[in-house]
Amino acid sequence: MQQVVIGTEYGTHNLATQDVDTPIPKAGEVLIKMKAASLNYRDWEVVNGQYHENFPTGMVPLSDGAGEVIKVGNQVTSFAPGDRVISSFWQGWQSGELKDSPAAKSLGGPLGGCLSEYQVIAASGLVKMPASMTFVQAATLPCAAVTAWQALITKGNIKSGDWVLVQGTGGVSMFAQQLALMHGARVITLSSSDTKLDTAKQNGALHTINYQTTPEWAVDVNRLTHGQGVDHIVEVGGPNTLSQSLACIAPGGQINVVGYLGGKDGSINPLQILQAHATVRGIAVGPTSSLQALCNAIDANGLEPLIDREFQWQDYRQAFDYLASGNHLGKIVLTF
Ligand SMILES: NC(=O)c1ccc[n+]([C@@H]2O[C@H](COP(=O)([O-])OP(=O)(O)OC[C@H]3O[C@@H](n4cnc5c(N)ncnc54)[C@H](OP(=O)(O)O)[C@@H]3O)[C@@H](O)[C@H]2O)c1
Repeated sequence: MQQVVIGTEYGTHNLATQDVDTPIPKAGEVLIKMKAASLNYRDWEVVNGQYHENFPTGMVPLSDGAGEVIKVGNQVTSFAPGDRVISSFWQGWQSGELKDSPAAKSLGGPLGGCLSEYQVIAASGLVKMPASMTFVQAATLPCAAVTAWQALITKGNIKSGDWVLVQGTGGVSMFAQQLALMHGARVITLSSSDTKLDTAKQNGALHTINYQTTPEWAVDVNRLTHGQGVDHIVEVGGPNTLSQSLACIAPGGQINVVGYLGGKDGSINPLQILQAHATVRGIAVGPTSSLQALCNAIDANGLEPLIDREFQWQDYRQAFDYLASGNHLGKIVLTF
C-alpha cells in the first residue's frame, strides 16, 4: 500500500509518497481502507512546520478520514468488516474534559494520520458514519465539525433564537453556521468575499458582513441584533478579531477561541471581558463522545457539509496549495 509522509524537511513540496506493508490490526485495533480524507488548516500548519508543536519527519499527516473496516483485531466487538467508519480527532479522549485523559493524542500529529491507503486505528477512536452520508461527506466531520459542535452545543448549550456570529467561511465556520441553524439559532456570517457571503446567505445566514470592507464590524453586529449583541461567537481570527468580538458579545455571551488566522500575538483589554460579562473559552476540537453526538444529530436532522472541492489523494500538493490560497468555502476533501 502507499502512504504520504512528512519528508526530511517541512513543506508541502517535501511530502513524499512511500510503499509500505499494509498494517495488521493488534488487539483493540481496526484496519481501515481509507475512502476519503479532509484537509484542515491545522494539517497545513503541521506539514509546513508552523503548528505550535513540531512532529517528526516520516509521520503520515491528516487527522480526518472515513473508510471501510477491512479487519478487526482481537477483542474488538463494536465494529465488523464492511462497517463504514470515521476517525475521531482525539484518540484516547472519550468524553468529559481533556485533562482527565492525559494519554490522549491526536491523529495527523503526533499519531500517524489518514493520508494513507490503509490505516490502523483503535476501535475506541472510531465512530460509525451517519447512514445518510457518503465517505466524502463523513471525512469532513472529525476536526472542523466537532470543533463547532463542542463550542456551540457541548459547551455552549445553544438555544433556539440565540444569535451566533461566525467568522469567515472555512471549514469550522461553515459547520458552525450549519449547526447553529440546526438548533434554531440566528446566524451572522463574516467573510472577506462578497461572493462567499452570497453563498453563506443562500445556506441560511440571516445577515452577512464583509470584514475587509467593514473592519469595525462590531458596530454592524450590534445594529443587526437591535443593540443586544450575539450570544455565541466562534473566534477563528485571534488577536485581530477578539476585540471586535468583545465589542458585540451580548451580556453573558460566550466567545469560543478556536483559531488564530490573524496571527498568534496580540493584546486584549480585560475590562472588555468584564464589562461584557462574557465567557471566553478555549476549544481544542472535542472528545469522541462529541463526534458520536454530532453523528446522531446528523442521523436525526440530516446535514450536508459544504464541500468546495475534491482531489484525488495523489494530488495532495495541489489540495494543500488550494487550502493555503483561502479561496475555498467549507471543506476540501481527498478521495482514495
Ligand atoms: N482549536 C480547535 O479546536 C480548532 C479546530 C479546528 C480549527 N482550528 C483553527 O481554526 C481556524 C480555522 O480553521 P479551518 O480549518 O476552518 O480553516 P480554513 O478552512 O482554512 O478557513 C479559513 C477561513 O477563515 C477566514 N479567515 C481568515 N483570516 C480571517 C480573519 N482575520 N478574520 C476572520 N476570518 C478569517 C477566511 O474566510 P473568508 O475567505 O470567508 O474570508 C478563510 O477562508 C484555524 O486557525 C485553525 O487552526 C482550531
